[in-house]
Amino acid sequence: MSAPTRLLVIPGSLRRASTHAGLARAAAELAPIDLEVRVVGLREIPFFDADLEVPEAVESLKAAITAADGVLLASPEYNYSVSGVLKNAIDWASRPAYASPFFKKKCAVMATSPGPVGGARGLMHLRSVLAGMGADIYPGLEFRIALSKQRFDEEGNLTDDESRQRLAVHLTEIAEWIRA
Ligand code: FNR
Repeated sequence: MSAPTRLLVIPGSLRRASTHAGLARAAAELAPIDLEVRVVGLREIPFFDADLEVPEAVESLKAAITAADGVLLASPEYNYSVSGVLKNAIDWASRPAYASPFFKKKCAVMATSPGPVGGARGLMHLRSVLAGMGADIYPGLEFRIALSKQRFDEEGNLTDDESRQRLAVHLTEIAEWIRA
């Protein structure tokens, strides 16, 4: 049997009951047998400062990205864009330019929001950021959940059956793309 495909999932919210952390948990639960999901949070990542030596938390994030076959970024939409928490971590991990762990890395994006488009505008910006780093961006449909208040519980767990089924199918599709 061949080795499982390794997918790193990075939620871009630090909130205790974050729905994006909930999406990452659901991805770990619903992944097909041949997809190994690891979730890495961003709480320990300091503000980007080029005067700092690369902090340990950043080194370990970069190592996790390098070790993964693919990365799935879960970003809240803040003011039609990516969350600052996620953008800050990406900026750290994006150095050195065009030789960073994101360069040519297979990346996909997902989001949820209380609004009707499920964070689509934020994901457009996130795709642009990934393109700026030379990442290999999943060309299929991105995974989004609109009206999150109806589909997650108060702890941020994804409870909606239809969304869970869609996520399971999506994970199978991105695993195939990563392996191709
Ligand atoms: C938001 N939210 C939001 N939603 C949206 O659909 N479009 C938007 O432009 C914004 N803007 C925005 C800005 C700021 C500063 C906050 C705090 C929130 C709602 C936001 O998408 C929602 O809080 C996240 O989906 C929650 O994610 P977590 O923390 O549950 O992972």
